[in-house]
Amino acid sequence: MVVGRFLVTKHFLPLIKNDGTGKLIYITSKSVSISAPDHHGEVTGYGMAKAAANQQLKSLALDFQRDNVPITTLAFEPGFIKTKLTGWLGRVDIEEACTGMVDIIEKLSPDMSGLFMNWNGKTIPWSGGRQMSSDSNRRVVLESSSSTRE
Ligand SMILES: NC(=O)c1ccc[n+]([C@@H]2O[C@H](COP(=O)([O-])OP(=O)(O)OC[C@H]3O[C@@H](n4cnc5c(N)ncnc54)[C@H](OP(=O)(O)O)[C@@H]3O)[C@@H](O)[C@H]2O)c1
Repeated sequence: MVVGRFLVTKHFLPLIKNDGTGKLIYITSKSVSISAPDHHGEVTGYGMAKAAANQQLKSLALDFQRDNVPITTLAFEPGFIKTKLTGWLGRVDIEEACTGMVDIIEKLSPDMSGLFMNWNGKTIPWSGGRQMSSDSNRRVVLESSSSTRE
């Protein structure tokens, strides 16, 4: 999944308009975020592919900005949609989710490049919003390392 997306991006990039209106959109997912409390046990490969896609998208946004490439990028969390993937379970119909995403893609401006966004237009922080509750107050105390490193 990671290599496929990389190759599609590589071969499609020269075809994307470079007049400031070109957009590169990845559909990824926040449900398999490393900070998510439950990875549902069976989605490690899926999560790895989505994490790689998010990293690639964000890196491309920074590369484009640095090299003045006028292509806007966005990673999309499409929501919990009723599709074959979810066994037709979900909170959002395909039509509603797609309409929302197309609307956002059309309104996307270059200053939004590199964002991670929900299908309804909410920005999702890259740092992740959810943590395992037992982890939230944990600290690792490196008693000896601070003196040797400084
Ligand atoms: N549904 C959700 O709640 C949800 C949530 C978060 C993220 N996403 C992401 O949204 C995207 C679409 O998900 P979905 O729910 O629509 O999945 P889906 O119901 O499994 O549909 C995937 C589609 O991609 C096609 N496909 C799969 N592998 C392909 C390949 N190698 N070449 C060409 N076409 C291929 C499938 O074709 P066939 O029908 O011929 O197999 C199918 O039409 C995925 O990236 C998924 O990870 C979905």
